[in-house]
Amino acid sequence: MAFKPLVFSGVQPTGNLHLGNYLGAIKRFVEMQKTHDCIYCVVDLHAVTVWQDPAELKTQIREVTAAFLAAGIDPAAHIVFNQSQVAEHAELAWVFNCVARMGWLNRMTQFKEKAGKDRENASVGLFAYPTLMAADILVYRATHVPVGEDQKQHLELARDIAGKFNTDFAASIAANGHDPEDGFFPQPEPLTQGPAPRVMSLRDGTKKMSKSDPSDYSRIALADDADTIAQKIRKARTDPDALPSELEGLKGRAEAENLVTIFAALADRTKEDVLREYGGAQFSTFKPALADLAVATLSPVTGRMRDLMADPAHIDSVLKDGGARASAIARPVMDAVKDIVGFLR
Ligand code: TYM
Repeated sequence: MAFKPLVFSGVQPTGNLHLGNYLGAIKRFVEMQKTHDCIYCVVDLHAVTVWQDPAELKTQIREVTAAFLAAGIDPAAHIVFNQSQVAEHAELAWVFNCVARMGWLNRMTQFKEKAGKDRENASVGLFAYPTLMAADILVYRATHVPVGEDQKQHLELARDIAGKFNTDFAASIAANGHDPEDGFFPQPEPLTQGPAPRVMSLRDGTKKMSKSDPSDYSRIALADDADTIAQKIRKARTDPDALPSELEGLKGRAEAENLVTIFAALADRTKEDVLREYGGAQFSTFKPALADLAVATLSPVTGRMRDLMADPAHIDSVLKDGGARASAIARPVMDAVKDIVGFLR
C-alpha cells in the first residue's frame, strides 16, 4: 500500500468528557503516538450539529484540548487543533455530500438515535455528520483511526465514500498523475481493538456510557473529584453474586463485566488477570479497589487538566499552531481533489 501510515481521530467538544471517552479513545491516542504520526482534532464543526451555547462552546473546546494534553498527547511531536480552523474539512465534506448516497446515510444508527422521534426537526448537519467525519480523516489521507465501537459504522461509511470517489473519478485520478491502482484516497481502518472499546453506563450495563445520559451517576466524568468517583462506583448497579475467576463466568452479567473491563483498562491488565486476583470476591471488596484505582489513575489527569484550563491563552496558542500545521497538510490534498473533480483554481 502506497499510503503513508497516519493516525487521525477526533472528539466532540460537547461537555461531560467521561471514562468511556478516556479509555475508548484518548488513552489510545496517547499510545499511538509511540508508533505513528498522529493528528488529533477537537471537532467543533460536529458539535454544532446540535445547538451549542457560543460562550460555553469555547470553554469546551479548550477543555477537550486540555484533556488531550493532560493525558499525555504531545502537541509538538504530533498535531492538536480544532476543526473549524481548517476550512478544508468543510470543503471536502461538500464534495463527499455529492459522492455519498442518501440511502447510505439513512442507515446510520447514530443519526436515528440522536434525532429520535422528531426527525423532521433535526438539523441537516446532523444527518450529513458522517460525510464531514469522512472528510476529517481523508483530507489528511489518514490510514488509521482509533475510535470506540460506536463509531465503527461511520468508519465503514468513510471507507465506502473513499472507494466511490476513487471509482467515480478513476480516469481523472490517473490523468492527474496519481497511481490508478491505489486510487486517490486510502481506505481508513478503524482501530477499535483497545481494552475498552465500549464502556457501559454504570446504571445500566446494556447502554453505553454517554455524554447525553440524563443520569450523572451513569458516567464518571473526567472532571469528577475523588469523592464523586468513589461514590459513583459504590452506587454502580451490580448483581448479588461474587466475581467469577474466569471470563466465561461474566456471560450474561453485563454490569459485572463492565466493571471488570474498566478495572483492566485502567490498570493496563487483562480481564483474565483481574479475575485471577478477584475471582470469588464480593462487590463490597471489588468496588472499593476499583474506586481507588480509578482515583489514582484519573486524578493526575484531572489535576493537569485544571492547571491547563487556568491558562487559556496557552491552550489557544497550541490550537493555533496545530491548525497551521494541519492546514499545510490539508491544502495540497484539497487542491488535488479540485483538479480531480474538475474545478478551476
Ligand atoms: P465522541 O466525541 O462522541 O467520542 C469521542 C471518542 O470516544 C469514544 N467513546 C467511547 N468509547 C468507549 N466507550 C464509550 N462509552 C464511549 N463513548 C464514546 C468514541 O467512540 C470516540 O472515539 N463522531 C465522533 C468524533 C469524530 C471523529 C472524526 C472520530 C468526528 N470526526 C474523525 C474519528 C475520526 C464522535 O462523536 O465522538
